[in-house]
Amino acid sequence: MSEISANASLHPYNTFGMHANARWFTRVRSLEDVQVLVATEIFNQNERLILGGGSNMLLIQHFDGLVIKNELYGIEVVREDADAVYVRAGAGENWHAFVQHTIAQGWGGLENLSLIPGNVGAAPMQNIGAYGVEIKDCFHTLEAFHWQQKEVHTFDAAACQFGYRESVFKHAAKNQYLILNVTFRLLKNPTLNISYGAIAKELETMQVVQPTIRDVSNAVMHIRQSKLPDPKQIGNAGSFFKNPVVGAEKHAALLAEFSNLVAYKNSDTEFKLAAGWLIEQCGWKGQRFGDAGVHKDQALVLVNYGNASGKEIFDLSQRILDSVQEKFGVLLEREVNMIGL
Ligand code: FAD
Ligand code: EPU
Repeated sequence: MSEISANASLHPYNTFGMHANARWFTRVRSLEDVQVLVATEIFNQNERLILGGGSNMLLIQHFDGLVIKNELYGIEVVREDADAVYVRAGAGENWHAFVQHTIAQGWGGLENLSLIPGNVGAAPMQNIGAYGVEIKDCFHTLEAFHWQQKEVHTFDAAACQFGYRESVFKHAAKNQYLILNVTFRLLKNPTLNISYGAIAKELETMQVVQPTIRDVSNAVMHIRQSKLPDPKQIGNAGSFFKNPVVGAEKHAALLAEFSNLVAYKNSDTEFKLAAGWLIEQCGWKGQRFGDAGVHKDQALVLVNYGNASGKEIFDLSQRILDSVQEKFGVLLEREVNMIGL
């Protein structure tokens, strides 16, 4: 285990670019490191926060506890059968680099999830998703260390209780585990998923007739780069809110009032509304208050132009939430993890 340092800046470790400090900060690189850490006084006397790539959190204030940066690396094939390879990746591996590695091997399944920031260990937390695929579609198992019982537990997909931007780790198992590694089942003869959004159109522009997983990855990357702000240039954590799901009756009522409502059928009885559209309709798109703002091209993304505080971003999100509720009667839910609320 690396040493535990005091009063560490978290500014380099969160994509929102918040200037917040951790009372204590350490890194773990192996299960042995974790076992040494849990025997320390600082671990046992402090609240803890696990840090991956810091791309899905808003640090509202300084963190008065122990931040544990997950740096468990390693990628290996743990099993193989006629159709699939089972690949295990350490929680500290960079997500996009891991996806690119699987594509280079010709293993299909994760290509639509190219360019999502962050690390492998956080991917199951909210069942990351994009362009018609979620990790639950390729997920096999994960191993996680239980802080209290001090032992490693294995979770299959059912145990993870995956949903849209949801898992058991945000609910019943919240703050109880450190995810150590994740195993994915990837296909040797990939089936492509290009029906979602602009992928097919992008492939056409790229003049690709028989797409490979590499082509799909390139198309997704291109679309993402044109739509989402790069955290290296402007602080953000991707979509700040989830797209809300409403019943058929509420959907019909909204449609009667707002004929240009953007919504997608989610199930026989439910519709998913585009939160970006709801927020834009309330007039927030491109608004800036000091250094806190709503992105000019994507109203679902809140941004830090430099020195916004976590509290300023949080307060802005509350005003957005209130206005959407007032205009549409729809309660938005934050997708980004609020730290220090
Ligand atoms: P962090 O922000 O470090 O952590 C997120 C949460 O998980 C925290 O609560 C943390 O304590 C916990 N955690 C992290 N690692 C572990 C671990 N090993 N064990 C237990 N708990 C852990 N998300 C999508 O789903 N789809 C997208 O298309 C998408 N696009 C994005 C685009 C941009 C520009 C940005 C900035 C973000 C986007 N995101 C998207 C959100 C984010 O990339 C994902 O949620 C990602 O999985 C977060 O990974 P991270 O390592 O940065 O997590
Ligand atoms: N829209 C607007 N105004 C806006 C933004 C969007 O009207 O300012 C409408 C447009 O009609 C657009 C629709 O909303 O067609 C959907 O927008 P987009 O395709 O950009 O996707 P999204 O719903 O905003 C979701 C995910 C993203 C993911 C993309 C692609 C959520 C909360 N967000 O965004 O995930 O990358 O789809 O699959 O589900 C993230 O979780 O951080 C994230 C970026």
